[in-house]
Amino acid sequence: MDLWLIGMGTGNPEHVTLEARRALREASLVLIPRKGAGKDDLADLRHTILRACDCTARVVEFDMPVRDDALPYADRVDRWHDAIAVIWADAIAQAQLTGPVALLVWGDPGLYDSTLRIADRLTPRPRVRVVAGITALQALTAAHAIPFNTVNGAVTVTTGRRLRVHGWPVGADTIVIMLDGDCGFRTLDPDGLHIWWGAYLGMAEQVLVAGPLGQVGDRIVATRAAERARHGWIMDTYLLRRGG
Ligand SMILES: C[S@@+](CC[C@H](N)C(=O)[O-])C[C@H]1O[C@@H](n2cnc3c(N)ncnc32)[C@H](O)[C@@H]1O
Repeated sequence: MDLWLIGMGTGNPEHVTLEARRALREASLVLIPRKGAGKDDLADLRHTILRACDCTARVVEFDMPVRDDALPYADRVDRWHDAIAVIWADAIAQAQLTGPVALLVWGDPGLYDSTLRIADRLTPRPRVRVVAGITALQALTAAHAIPFNTVNGAVTVTTGRRLRVHGWPVGADTIVIMLDGDCGFRTLDPDGLHIWWGAYLGMAEQVLVAGPLGQVGDRIVATRAAERARHGWIMDTYLLRRGG
């Protein structure tokens, strides 16, 4: 079985590459996750992309299982991936496949995404193809019109959880934080740090704030809370640089 993991970009249908469009036209089954209350617009976006690409594949929606918060983090994620793989396997078994199975993966399938790890759990193991997508990193730096790195500089891409637990990564002059539900930048000494923050990057709802962390940090916290209340969900990413 061929399983195509197709990067769809960060919410702007125009992020979908020509390669992705062609792949969607050649697929025989497309699996679409439903992520629960308040996130219907994310499933709708996938349908919009399929229509825009003239995709004629059979489309099967599935409910994402819920993570068991009682388990330690690693076990919780592991079991969750197992459960998703079972759902995929059932949907694939019920389909009369005449070609590849496709999944539209948010951003790029290789960046902070578990789709490849879930694909590894399928038996027999599928032939996996990845179609690259625009990531939240690129959407952020493009929206602010800034370079990702300084000249000859290193960038550490990490999570809000790691920033809160381990602090500023040793040796980095630029860091990018993803998967942060709690504004982890508040745990840092803001002196000398500049932040470029973006939510709903690439989407019509996009919001940007940039400036010295000490001056704009509180505004980001308030904006994030207000936007999250307004839409029922939020995805945000930020880049922090020493020296601005
Ligand atoms: C599970 S990761 C998926 C990343 C994705 N594979 C990529 O390539 O960007 C989800 C995180 O990506 C970031 N993200 C994804 N889409 C975003 C968007 N449109 N605006 C801001 N951040 C986004 C957020 O940090 C979010 O918590």
